[in-house]
Amino acid sequence: MLTPPRHSWLIHVLVSIAVQRCIAQHSFKLPMSRVQRGKVNAFGNAFSSLAPVSQVKEFAYTVNITIGAETLEHIVDTGSSDLWTVSNKCTDTDCQSVRKYQYLSSSLVPSHDPFKLNYLSGSVSGDINFETVTIGSYEVSHQVFALANKTENLGLSTTGNSGIMGLCFAPSASIPPTTGNTLMDNLFSSLPEDKRYFAIKLGRDSVNDSSSSLTFGEVDTDYARSIDDFAFTPLSKDGATDYNFWKIPLRSLTVDAATLDLSPSLVPGAKSPIAVLDTGTTLVLGPTIDVDAFWGMAGPSGSARKNPISGLWEVHCNRSIAAGFVLGDKGAEKEYFVHPRDLSWIDGGQANGWCLGGIQANDGVNSGDWLLGDTFLRNVYTIHHGATSTEPPKIGLLNLTDPSKADSEFRAERGIESSSPLPNALPVHNRLTQAASDSITSYIASSICGFMGGAVLTTLFRARALVMAKGRRV
Ligand SMILES: *[C@@H]1O[C@H](CO)[C@@H](O)[C@H](O)[C@H]1NC(C)=O
Ligand SMILES: *[C@@H]1O[C@H](CO)[C@@H](O)[C@H](O)[C@H]1NC(C)=O
Ligand SMILES: *[C@@H]1O[C@H](CO)[C@@H](O)[C@H](O)[C@H]1NC(C)=O
Ligand SMILES: *[C@@H]1O[C@H](CO)[C@@H](O)[C@H](O)[C@H]1NC(C)=O
Ligand SMILES: *[C@@H]1O[C@H](CO)[C@@H](O)[C@H](O)[C@H]1NC(C)=O
Repeated sequence: MLTPPRHSWLIHVLVSIAVQRCIAQHSFKLPMSRVQRGKVNAFGNAFSSLAPVSQVKEFAYTVNITIGAETLEHIVDTGSSDLWTVSNKCTDTDCQSVRKYQYLSSSLVPSHDPFKLNYLSGSVSGDINFETVTIGSYEVSHQVFALANKTENLGLSTTGNSGIMGLCFAPSASIPPTTGNTLMDNLFSSLPEDKRYFAIKLGRDSVNDSSSSLTFGEVDTDYARSIDDFAFTPLSKDGATDYNFWKIPLRSLTVDAATLDLSPSLVPGAKSPIAVLDTGTTLVLGPTIDVDAFWGMAGPSGSARKNPISGLWEVHCNRSIAAGFVLGDKGAEKEYFVHPRDLSWIDGGQANGWCLGGIQANDGVNSGDWLLGDTFLRNVYTIHHGATSTEPPKIGLLNLTDPSKADSEFRAERGIESSSPLPNALPVHNRLTQAASDSITSYIASSICGFMGGAVLTTLFRARALVMAKGRRV
């Protein structure tokens, strides 16, 4: 918990004089890289059940922003709202050898108020400060942010980022709005209403940075002609008193043109399941009952299986799945196809012809019913539009994956089957029995940005594996 500011009058003055200056124009593009994410720990964001950890590749999307006089790389996270950076006071192994804030600027204003954010498998702490933040052509003076003197299990040293730039709403921030506005709110308030947005395209390519794009106040003409190309959905406020996450209704999933109806939303007041768009999460996570049904449809003839030890869905690396997410308000919904690459997800680990599924069960998501992470987001170009005087915040989506083209690409890329035998080719019931007696407990924490009170992603898979074993043997 944050204690009340000791110098609240000073902070109040600073907040009220916080101004944003547009140096060049009203919009800008920020180069964004896809970097391989470091492993958190044995139970962290590694999907080590399927393949050795060294083969598992998760990615994060990073940008450079300048804090005071120092330019540092930050993960772009639409699922959290704070900006924090590691300082040279951090001496933990976790933050070793990343670039750190060196206190080189005289414009830094410390508040001496502590900052702490707990993640599922780690945490960050330090103190709250104010400094000039330059992002693209914008300079925000007295931007509130945290300098971290301690990070635990966040894998900074292996991912290489110095911090996280949250681009979500103030109610989801750890730094209270009375202390200072979020970076997103400051950027939005200085953009004219018709340009009050940022647009994100997540690339598949680590070498070619132009396969990723992040723009503020404009669309990248590599991916869209104009804002009119997007289908917009007003943001859902369900389950909260104010807009808290980038969330919209998910009406159904499709598999080979057949519709999978979803279980009712657990979000109070929601008429349909709520999907949260989150660049800081690697996979798509949804309720167990729906995800199991999805793989039931998408994995005929045993081409998908739930690994009884990890509880994670796996699919033949040669299975091309034509699946779509139907998003939007009733009557205005649209289907967004996902590339088979993102469903039979080879980067997540591969063993004897089995790939990790890009959609996994997780009943611990509490920011909505579904978390649409990178395996979905790579298939769309997304506009995150702030509120205007006449309209609530909204999400604009543009479909980028053509299912038939994607299918041919997938077939060409995966080639013919491997002749390797299946791992421990035991009959299914034997494998389940083995799982039931196994004491391995594994967690999936696919997002280091899933902080407590935010998008918490926690699941004890062993309990689930046992339930499944019982169910099957009846
Ligand atoms: C950030 O800047 C460093 C140093 O100029 C550069 O090596 C790196 O590629 C940049 N990263 C991004 C995401 O632009
Ligand atoms: C980190 O900062 C906090 C808040 O200012 C302080 O209480 C703590 O002692 C510092 N820890 C280290 C290791 O510097
Ligand atoms: C990089 O990606 C962009 C966008 O997908 C593409 O237009 C460009 O040709 C690529 N460049 C290289 C060198 O592959
Ligand atoms: C697909 O992969 C699985 C697992 O390796 C294998 O059993 C199956 O024969 C393959 N199917 C085709 C059509 O290549
Ligand atoms: C996107 O959807 C429209 C129909 O709404 C379709 O005409 C277009 O081809 C799709 N784009 C891609 C890349 O598949």
